[in-house]
Amino acid sequence: MAMGTSEAVLQVFSGAVPCLFGSDPCFSKSDSMSPFKSHIKSVKKRGSRYMLKCSYMIRSHIMTHRLHGVGGGLYGNTSIHRSQLQSCKCQRADSVSGIASEAGNGTWFVDNAKKRNPINGVMDTPNVLEFQDVQELKPEMEGSISNGAVETARDTFVKVRVDSIEDEAWDLLRESMVYYCGSPIGTIAAKDPTSSNVLNYDQVFIRDFIPSGIAFLLKGEYDIVRNFILHTLQLQSWEKTMDCHSPGQGLMPASFKVRTVPLDGDDSATEEVLDPDFGEAAIGRVAPVDSGLWWIILLRAYGKCSGDLSVQERIDVQTGIKMILRLCLADGFDMFPTLLVTDGSCMIDRRMGIHGHPLEIQALFYSALLCAREMLAPEDGSADLIRALNNRLVALSFHIREYYWIDMKKLNEIYRYKTEEYSYDAVNKFNIYPDQISPWLVEWMPNKGGYLIGNLQPAHMDFRFFSLGNLWSIISSLATMDQSHAILDLVEAKWGDLVADMPLKICYPALEGQEWQIITGSDPKNTPWSYHNAGSWPTLLWQLTVACIKMDRPQIAAKAVEIAERRIARDKWPEYYDTKKARFIGKQACLFQTWSIAGYLVAKLLLSDPTAAKILITEEDSELVNAFSCMISANPRRKRGRKSSTQTFIV
Ligand code: GLC
Repeated sequence: MAMGTSEAVLQVFSGAVPCLFGSDPCFSKSDSMSPFKSHIKSVKKRGSRYMLKCSYMIRSHIMTHRLHGVGGGLYGNTSIHRSQLQSCKCQRADSVSGIASEAGNGTWFVDNAKKRNPINGVMDTPNVLEFQDVQELKPEMEGSISNGAVETARDTFVKVRVDSIEDEAWDLLRESMVYYCGSPIGTIAAKDPTSSNVLNYDQVFIRDFIPSGIAFLLKGEYDIVRNFILHTLQLQSWEKTMDCHSPGQGLMPASFKVRTVPLDGDDSATEEVLDPDFGEAAIGRVAPVDSGLWWIILLRAYGKCSGDLSVQERIDVQTGIKMILRLCLADGFDMFPTLLVTDGSCMIDRRMGIHGHPLEIQALFYSALLCAREMLAPEDGSADLIRALNNRLVALSFHIREYYWIDMKKLNEIYRYKTEEYSYDAVNKFNIYPDQISPWLVEWMPNKGGYLIGNLQPAHMDFRFFSLGNLWSIISSLATMDQSHAILDLVEAKWGDLVADMPLKICYPALEGQEWQIITGSDPKNTPWSYHNAGSWPTLLWQLTVACIKMDRPQIAAKAVEIAERRIARDKWPEYYDTKKARFIGKQACLFQTWSIAGYLVAKLLLSDPTAAKILITEEDSELVNAFSCMISANPRRKRGRKSSTQTFIV
């Protein structure tokens, strides 16, 4: 029998990874969960929702923190006296006034620029000053101009302007900090003082906090990240239900809110509670599959940056990692090693036709598997899990690199595909009909460059370009080196479409007409070239920067940052931009969107110290390369007719 990749034989792994896709004791759902749950004492049910109480609301004069997971408490066994408790009671999640801001450089411009608008309290910041403003305002610069050193004056102007944007961004980021029991634990999604329609933007979103957390780590402010990691871990083990159904153990919430509520049995006092949303209240009731994956990625970054490995070594944290892995690695009906998810399970959290095996989730999944492998303590009990993890890494990278990749050559191959191939060594394994190649793609694909498609299903390739998935595939080494360079080549070649007036398009192109009606359900927020439907999201700057640094092409990111700097602060840090060229602030975009602010800051910090990007990057390891080349040689497109032998794995 001819051997194809659908039945690749991986003898190289027969010893090391015996349980690929097989039933595996490590996936047993019954083990280890209940003891862990028993540590959660502070659950409060409100309707169908559960909350984590700030446990400093003591009965006697001393409080004991009850936020203890397995293996110790968030703050150790700290006791807090009543005097401290009083101020805790008054602490509101969104009350962050009085937070010491980073000592600014106190230049004339920064001081000038930070006047608050007396009417709405919004930072009234003329960040993009016209050149003549500078000449009027800055006596020091007059000297250089009168000396004829116009260039120098211009450089000084640009530097002052950029510094002031960064200073403003830091101030805003600090203002977005959310406190719980007096400690910072996250950042609010958006803090626009002029908007009354906040929906859930007053919550701490797990995915939104990642760039905030990275910015704080790079600044050497580790506490907020540590607190975030440990508090969200506590939320992970919640019993949550939607209409009597519970999602799998290990799911991390999409977001949480710190609420101040009356203390049970005492009307005169209040307490703080953490109120998570696992999707049961979210618009569309979407499951946040990406949250746990981001959590693992942030945990590794925290350890690498701070040098404090004690957090990832804690038993409760190790258990948390394993719970996420078990949930992701559990056997199901899947034929593919990619994670099968519903629409809206990631940054694109409403219907956009990305159900199935969307690239963004696969890239984060791969990244989280690598990060987890680095952090899991070797112990007898986790050998099976680690084996399953290794198997999945190989199968996943093979699957994505082989089947998601397109460039001119591959596109031409698809164009000439035979269909209806019933056999083990089919070339067109997924039975893709060449007519699916849309006219836009034929025009759009550059001669040099390529990318990973958005999704792959039987008889369906989603050819849209999704930025986050492609960038994170570079960062995590899910894409090969050649593919990674080709993705950046494509970003450069298609700059006018993907960056234009504001980086970066979330996807390209937009769904229009009947396709938009059917796929989005006529979603008025996702109209063509708006929001998730090919809107431009400044937060993606930080992922672009990490990817460019990894490939040693930081100048691409620097160019994008410069474009963003021209208007992002003047536009009040919008969540997203609309139109083909990103010319308008998004129709319903929040202003002062925290991850737009943090994304910009992370990009700046990394460009000024590219080596720091290593806290996010995972390099390909040699075992994976070996296994991968073994599978490539088994691919019928390259080689047909080898005989199979001992073990057979479906990839
Ligand atoms: C929107 C975005 C989502 C983000 C949330 C908070 O729902 O689609 O990705 O996490 O807003 O900013």
